[in-house]
Amino acid sequence: MKNKIEQLKKEKNAVIMAHYYAPCEVQEVADYIGDSFYLAKIAKQSDAEIIVFCGVQFMGESAKTLNPHKKVLMPDPTADCAMAHMVKNGIIDEMKSKYDDLAVVCYINSTAELKAVSDVCVTSSNAVKIVKALPNKNIFFIPDRNLGRFVAQQVPEKNIILNDGCCPIHAKITAKQITAEKEKHPNAKVLSHPECEAEVLKLSDYIGSTADIIAFAKTDESSEYIICTEDGVNYKLITDNPHKRFYYPLPHPCCQDMKLNTLESVLSVLEKEDKEITISEDIRLKALIPLERMLELGL
Ligand code: 13P
Ligand code: SF4
Repeated sequence: MKNKIEQLKKEKNAVIMAHYYAPCEVQEVADYIGDSFYLAKIAKQSDAEIIVFCGVQFMGESAKTLNPHKKVLMPDPTADCAMAHMVKNGIIDEMKSKYDDLAVVCYINSTAELKAVSDVCVTSSNAVKIVKALPNKNIFFIPDRNLGRFVAQQVPEKNIILNDGCCPIHAKITAKQITAEKEKHPNAKVLSHPECEAEVLKLSDYIGSTADIIAFAKTDESSEYIICTEDGVNYKLITDNPHKRFYYPLPHPCCQDMKLNTLESVLSVLEKEDKEITISEDIRLKALIPLERMLELGL
């Protein structure tokens, strides 16, 4: 299957982009692997005719929004991020009516429709920097309350209003699970994604996006880590650091939607060129504004 995929990529001028949470065999055939910010940047720069996006719907949609003339295919378009929908109807208008200078800051893990009514997008690797750079005092941060709270702590000069959404996978990680791992591995550092709950972040030695966690583990002098994010990152962590040990809360955090990206489904979309992402032009043009603003402010 891997050979066929390589051959089709060349024949069709296609590239495969995979998030760090995709299964390891899919990361192995990918041309670009990264966190949400890196993949959005690469999608904008790519000159391939076809992008096979191995992630979840909001990532494929962002790639299509930035590349209207390319075919963006998803191996399984049902792969969705539960958090991307967690904003109640009407709440953005309600917040806008309360604050004159409100900026709606939209975590990239959201639908194209939500991006279309937002002022700027952020990812977990640039949210603090972008919120700091905004002229607005009042910020409505959607959809993730955990990333929003983390940003609010780093940017105390702003009034950050939180929305009640979260990632069901990260929210399941508990302080008790971390303490249990710490007892087994007392020298291990705790590295966490900001989508984790406050009680987990409090026990963490380092907090960052998937790419930040991977970069930290590579340069840090310790040899053992407890990783509080989806266990797909393990592939890159052990490839980069074969002599270090990585432990996960039990049960391992696993995003089933990310795991819908299989070698079989990658090969099938490359062969058939089906499962193309489409977005209405009206929504795309509106969603493009906050995405491009993120690319400008986030670099
Ligand atoms: P990153 O932007 O850190 O890759 O995170 C994406 C994601 O879905 C986290 O759950
Ligand atoms: Fe969404 Fe959570 Fe899966 Fe990330 S891990 S894609 S935030 S459901």
